[in-house]
Amino acid sequence: STKTLSLNTGAKIPQVGLGTWQSKDNDAYKSVVAALKDGYRHIDTAAIYGNEDQVGQAIKDSGVPREEIFVTTKLWCTQHHEPAKALDQSLKRLGLEYIDLYLMHWPVRLDPNYVKDGNVLSVPTKADGSRPVDITNWNFIKTWELMQELPKTNKVKAVGVSNFSINNLKDLLASPGNQLTPAANQVELHPLLPQNELIDFCKSKGIMVEAYSPLGSTNAPLLKEPVVLEIAKKNNVQPGHVVISWHAQRGYVVLPKSVNPDRIKTNRKVFTLSDEDFEAINNISKEKGEKRVVHPDWSPFEAFK
Ligand code: A2P
Repeated sequence: STKTLSLNTGAKIPQVGLGTWQSKDNDAYKSVVAALKDGYRHIDTAAIYGNEDQVGQAIKDSGVPREEIFVTTKLWCTQHHEPAKALDQSLKRLGLEYIDLYLMHWPVRLDPNYVKDGNVLSVPTKADGSRPVDITNWNFIKTWELMQELPKTNKVKAVGVSNFSINNLKDLLASPGNQLTPAANQVELHPLLPQNELIDFCKSKGIMVEAYSPLGSTNAPLLKEPVVLEIAKKNNVQPGHVVISWHAQRGYVVLPKSVNPDRIKTNRKVFTLSDEDFEAINNISKEKGEKRVVHPDWSPFEAFK
């Protein structure tokens, strides 16, 4: 069975979970069924991915008891003022009675007045093409004050955040209304964006780090790194094993996305890297420079300083 880590709520979380961003419709359904059959017990989705219904159906059809599976979903940016309602909507789409972890997807509210056709699960865009980031009427501390009430219902076991910088977390923890430390912070994290300071900070506060796009996202560019290929060859494993094992060895949750049953299997298998191989992977970003692969130019990042 998969190794588990502990959240600050006391709950256990399987270290390797299946990511489902960009897994559309039947692909999301098939990948979740394949993952649960393979032995995964942790599935990560989000309202904005548009696949909660598929994920929920797959969980049911897998035959794996609900209580054995750790399910995460996320509050989309247009619903920061109404997380309780958004949670109910996610539960309905998933067909579940509770969620294990509910995350604030981004530390910004996008103004819902700009969504098309009233569809809050979309990315609102202003006439000039910019994103209507609402920093005048709202901030993520208000969102958190609403979210921290949610575990008192039985609809969610833990709440956390995503895409939060160290400064965002400091602001949240220091705010007068804060009564709960986030259980997790899910961020882009891979050998080209190792997030060492953020990991140390989260560890010091008891916040679990979760790595999204752990292979570098679309087409898994990290699996083509010469260093990774060399280590894979030397150890007679696949490049996917090498990168996921590097993450696992660093002691946080890792969420590889795949819709391919063989790659889904590969990604759950971790082995112990030698110190030398581990260091060689650490060196990739030192030599090439750090690089944000996902949303490199999305405006909220400017507010992350
Ligand atoms: P696919 O879904 O067709 O397997 P990340 O987890 O960093 O977001 O990476 C996801 C990308 O990497 C997807 O394009 C996925 O494609 C691909 N991928 C996932 N696992 C592997 C693997 N073990 N080997 C090669 N490519 C992979």
